[in-house]
Amino acid sequence: MAFLLVIYLVIVSLLSIAFASDPNPLQDFCVADPQSAVLVNGFACKDPQQVQAKDFFFGGLQLPGNKSNQVGSMVTPVTVAQIPGLNTLGISLARIDYAPWGINPPHTHPHGSEILTVIEGSIKVGFVTSNPENRLFTMVLQKGDVFVFPIGLIHFERNVGDGNAVAIAALSSQNPGVITIANAVFGSTPEISSDLLVKAFQLDKSVVNYLESKF
Ligand SMILES: *[C@@H]1O[C@H](CO)[C@@H](O)[C@H](O)[C@H]1NC(C)=O
Repeated sequence: MAFLLVIYLVIVSLLSIAFASDPNPLQDFCVADPQSAVLVNGFACKDPQQVQAKDFFFGGLQLPGNKSNQVGSMVTPVTVAQIPGLNTLGISLARIDYAPWGINPPHTHPHGSEILTVIEGSIKVGFVTSNPENRLFTMVLQKGDVFVFPIGLIHFERNVGDGNAVAIAALSSQNPGVITIANAVFGSTPEISSDLLVKAFQLDKSVVNYLESKF
């Protein structure tokens, strides 16, 4: 009995490794058909006979994003939403532009790990591990440096130079997803009860109301 249990646990642990990123495709491609009413994990496949080269293409990543906003950064995503041919492939990327001292606020990608390459400028990056340690790993990257954010962990970036900064992030999901912590907690629809947030964050009610108005 105990032996069977060990076998079972080994199989379960192997499965969880195999499913740590998007599932592997079972065909050459499955170009997303956003018109399809079929609900699957990902998108239904477009008729392969109708697939064209442009289904695998995105143009324009040489263009900087507009960073004139509260945080001073802009993410230009290139995921399955931009390239339907990424459906089922478990990969995507993004260009991130940072104004001087601009930040990409603390956020997490529920579906993928991220590997970030600095193309221009100096960027301070960091991620925080799970409870109870909540250990911060952080360092300053220069042009050409590469840093990894493990799947699901909260991370952030800040341009620590006086000029613009640019990074390219690759992600291990066709649809990594983004949860920006402040927006999700203080800007949900409908709102999380403010008395719950008062207790959770040990804040004054006026501060919680202020944060809710900001997000
Ligand atoms: C960038 O965004 C700001 C604020 O939304 C806007 O005023 C400005 O016109 C935009 N600039 C460009 C080049 O699109």
